[in-house]
Amino acid sequence: MNKRAKPIVIFDSGVGGLSIYQEIKQVLPHAPVVYCSDIHGFPYGPKPEVEVIERTSLCLNAVAEQFDPSLAVIACNTASTISLPRVREELDFPVVGVVPAIKTASEYSEKRCIGLLATPGTIARRYTDQLIDDFAGDCHVIRVGSSELVQMAEQYLRGEPVSERDLRKILAPFLEGELVPDAVVLGCTHFPLLREALQQLSADIHWIDSGAAIARRVVSLLGPNAFPADSAPQDYFMHTGQAEQVSALVPALENMGFAIVRYLLVEPKGVTPHSHDET
Ligand code: DGL
Repeated sequence: MNKRAKPIVIFDSGVGGLSIYQEIKQVLPHAPVVYCSDIHGFPYGPKPEVEVIERTSLCLNAVAEQFDPSLAVIACNTASTISLPRVREELDFPVVGVVPAIKTASEYSEKRCIGLLATPGTIARRYTDQLIDDFAGDCHVIRVGSSELVQMAEQYLRGEPVSERDLRKILAPFLEGELVPDAVVLGCTHFPLLREALQQLSADIHWIDSGAAIARRVVSLLGPNAFPADSAPQDYFMHTGQAEQVSALVPALENMGFAIVRYLLVEPKGVTPHSHDET
């Protein structure tokens, strides 16, 4: 890794943060990135809040100790909506969170009916209630929390097709009924990875995610010229899982530009790199 440029860390429970990785690489192609995927703790959606906060803190501290980041993005709505105060206190670099784009959906909706598609954790958060009160008080909001859809995105990146039937079943509350939304917030970073399938399901719905806004926020914090244009960074995909949970992902990771896939041992005291590299 280029010694002069401190990397950007992108953290998620699984592959969802790759949707944010792609947006950041579009605007900062020379930024070195360390992606951290807490496969061992996945999924976060159904977990109690204290556990999610603990895992997020452990992983970010471990990766920070090893890589000395310039900034971290918690590319996970489920974690961001509860973990930001804790990790901002612990870490000495900026931490950007990703939260559901309720405001954008409310601004877009002519019907004054919006959808929120997220994890069971995110749709039930007090943080989410507050976002809705603040920005979509006059909208009817249909909330769908689905861990199954998170799994479908994980499988999709491992080369499996998306079942239109399953998708239609999960999204039924947005497709059927008297009042259906004209804008749906993709309040989980896994879901933009399924954008094509979602769009095919309903062209009448505007599917909204936070990726581009997060990338703009990162640029505004680091500056557009933070990374030398002549550098060719090697991006890392660090994960807390077993090799067999990652092997099917490697083609997609290589396609996106990751050069190194490596195990990250997350322990309360810090991190020790595993003895083997997988790529
Ligand atoms: N990608 C995560 C999010 O944005 C959640 C996935 C999970 O349930 O672990 O909320």
